[in-house]
Amino acid sequence: MTADELREKYLNFFEERGHHRLPSAPLIPENDPTVLFTTAGMHPLIPFLMGEKHPAGQRLCDVQKCLRTDDIDEVGDMAHLTFFEMLGNWSLGDYFKKEAIEWSYEFLTSSQWLGLEKEKLAVSCFGGDETAPKDEESAQLWQSVGIPKERIAFLGRKENWWGPIGETGPCGPDTEMFYWVGKDPTPKIFNPQDANWVEIWNDVFMTYNRTKEGKYELLKQKNVDTGMGLERTLAVINHLPSVFETELFVPLIGKIEEISLKKYEDFPKECRIIADHLKASIFLLAEHLEPSNVERGYILRRLIRRAVRFGRLLGIKDFFAFKFVEPVLKIYGETYPELNENKDFIEEQLVREEEKFSQTLSKGLALFEKLAQNKKIISGREAFDLYQSYGFPLELIKELAREKNIEVDTNGFQEEFKKHQELSRTASAGMFKGGLASHSDKAIKYHTATHLLHKALQEVLGEEVKQKGSNINEERLRFDFSCSQKPTSEQLKKVEDIVNQKIQENLPVIMKEMSLEEAKKIGAIGLFGEKYGERVKVYFIGRTENGLENAYSKEICGGPHVNNTGELGHFKIIKEEAVSQGVRRIKAILE
Ligand code: SER
Repeated sequence: MTADELREKYLNFFEERGHHRLPSAPLIPENDPTVLFTTAGMHPLIPFLMGEKHPAGQRLCDVQKCLRTDDIDEVGDMAHLTFFEMLGNWSLGDYFKKEAIEWSYEFLTSSQWLGLEKEKLAVSCFGGDETAPKDEESAQLWQSVGIPKERIAFLGRKENWWGPIGETGPCGPDTEMFYWVGKDPTPKIFNPQDANWVEIWNDVFMTYNRTKEGKYELLKQKNVDTGMGLERTLAVINHLPSVFETELFVPLIGKIEEISLKKYEDFPKECRIIADHLKASIFLLAEHLEPSNVERGYILRRLIRRAVRFGRLLGIKDFFAFKFVEPVLKIYGETYPELNENKDFIEEQLVREEEKFSQTLSKGLALFEKLAQNKKIISGREAFDLYQSYGFPLELIKELAREKNIEVDTNGFQEEFKKHQELSRTASAGMFKGGLASHSDKAIKYHTATHLLHKALQEVLGEEVKQKGSNINEERLRFDFSCSQKPTSEQLKKVEDIVNQKIQENLPVIMKEMSLEEAKKIGAIGLFGEKYGERVKVYFIGRTENGLENAYSKEICGGPHVNNTGELGHFKIIKEEAVSQGVRRIKAILE
């Protein structure tokens, strides 16, 4: 079965059961500064799991591109990936355990669908603790569909509780499905410790909200959130030893062999790292992220530089990262059109980053060798030197040290870093904690300001202005838009004045749900028209007494927003620059 077939089968199965198909949300969350990347299919749906009404209804399904960076350094073994796709179906306060479990079983085992062998399935259920009771109900349901008792394990919170993402939010007990991939006959009893039992699907019963105080409150509604790993399931169905033998990796590994003249079987770890990291980087670049020293850009930098370093270890001397764009596009181009649309940008950035790193890589490595001679520890100062002068991400230094069995004084490094930093406090916190500032009122204000800015830019620079990207944190908004010429300072001043004028007018912000067609008819703008399918939310800013179409700004958007522009404060543009050919970027603050 191909990846395309698996995606389609999954979506068809759930569409036949009343689910609305959503397109994948971006890897870089649009309006959520609390996390770096979309790490699960449920992430873009959090407000709806919390009780907000979803315009497409209560049953949803999708294939979501995901990026998990906690385990970057584990990539290289058989199991870990940074980029992966997750097949998911959701009930937002609609069906619950019975349907979720029966459908999971049917999809996995029916010959019309995946046709996996019933005898090779096992499941785990939540064993209960002080927060939530033992999930006897799920176990009963599994038994009713035909899973024998010996293949049902009750496990603890570590295994069978999912979420929240970050500190707070929706979470709940889950039930996981495993498939026997061992050569021996399937054992009678399910032993979750045995690696031949591969987890393929997770049904979460999202019924709790974890609060700031660490309490678990019941949510307004009972939700189902399921996630099936595409790569892993594809490997299992096709009887392949790992995800790296699937069509989602074979062409990439082939490319490495071709360029390096080495064999995968001799250098599996290096090949897996290069393939995974470059694939992830290409997907991030397709969303116009650029390598940098902070936040998301720093993760992208780490991915590219780690891939480059392992490429050099395989003996690849020329620039090679950009050579993976073609094969990645061949695998994913049809499913994810943003890859083709941004091909030039992706290649350009990969070449640029590899170039930057290559200039210092061999010198840096020589210095590292020297430092590491007869030593047990690399000092903070030395590590900082490698970072500052040779562009080695800290994690790369730690990895080099691990390979030599020596330590890095990371606290010392942090101290040096703080001494030298010109970066803002948030930026460095984001860099090392791997997270951003918490979701706050400030971010919501920036979100509303972004709508005003978008409209004001169109007024001043013309209709050619279209949103190309937006990013918000607690300290500023960033807005990318199409525009063939550099705006003059007078034009920028005018934009700023209009936004401040609209703030002073204390305009109400109103949300209304409508069909996509209606939204287009009244002139609502929005990139994300297809995201929620037929029904969309439109945010109106302005007086609407004479009809919604008379509001100042009309934009299709998921929210959230302030209630009134008067809450925003004073708007100021702090920077305007080019991002690429025909795309400009504005950074602005609210004072
Ligand atoms: N949120 C769960 C997961 O990521 C199920 O979708 O595994």
